[in-house]
Amino acid sequence: MEVTETFAGIALPGHLHTQESLGFAAAFTFRPSDVLIATYPKSGTTWMQEILTLLFSLGDARPAKTIPNWERAPWLEQIYCREALRDTGSPRLLTTHLPAPVLAPALQRSKAKVIYVARNPKDVAVSFYHFHHLAKFLPDPSSFDAFLTQFLEGTVHYGSWFEHVKGWLGQRHLLDILYVTYEELHQDLRGTAQRLSSFLGCPLAPGTLAALEQHCSFSAMRDNAMANYSLIPAEIMDHSQGRFMRKGVVGDWRSHFSPEQNALFNRRYQEEMGDTELPAQWPMA
Ligand code: A3P
Repeated sequence: MEVTETFAGIALPGHLHTQESLGFAAAFTFRPSDVLIATYPKSGTTWMQEILTLLFSLGDARPAKTIPNWERAPWLEQIYCREALRDTGSPRLLTTHLPAPVLAPALQRSKAKVIYVARNPKDVAVSFYHFHHLAKFLPDPSSFDAFLTQFLEGTVHYGSWFEHVKGWLGQRHLLDILYVTYEELHQDLRGTAQRLSSFLGCPLAPGTLAALEQHCSFSAMRDNAMANYSLIPAEIMDHSQGRFMRKGVVGDWRSHFSPEQNALFNRRYQEEMGDTELPAQWPMA
């Protein structure tokens, strides 16, 4: 039975978060050397965790092959990550799905760097819908149509995609933040890794890009138990219902949306994002 926590006006899975763990995240003291990956769920979080692991290790794949991603890049807000967060090594790679208003004050007081990954929200909705079947800590999504309505209303767990993206985009002049899109990672993984490396001031050793391309491919990650969540027990993720590493493609929404759902989504998107300067123009037609 899934349990819900409400924090900062949004619903969150109670199996992963408590008021205490959420309060801990909100009061987190960042170090200047910290690198925080911030995302709305299903936007490429795990992919970015893997890429940064490889950049930090100068292309050595051993950490990514031997340490689970939630220990390499722990979530600030999750109860399961507290042990990993106690680790004193620097630079720390951290992860969050929390909205910007919760973390921005602490981040603004620090020199920590933030990498915000965004994905076409239509593909996010599809990926999130499928993930609801697998994740026992999320409510039963019922039909795709019902789920899409909740996604557009922002009543799904983790709240409104629109608010999440606008909130973090609103920090562009206040934080040391780099915006990356899932589609960019698909189109040019090498170029994006180079952009990440110069933003982080992290040198690219010879061979790092080749190792990164090999290790961070969809197939390599799908087969890596340290990245594909197959280690998570069945009472938290029911692996018989699908894979975390599901398809890993751009534009899967086209095989899920009816013309009516697409028109509704486009209207809502225009209302919410019409005036927003975005890191990408997603094909919405
Ligand atoms: P799909 O469900 O569309 O396949 P997150 O890590 O934020 O939860 O995002 C999960 C989504 O990113 C899933 O999308 C997953 O397959 C995709 N993904 C993870 N690693 C990837 C990779 N190396 N290449 C392409 N997509 C990847």
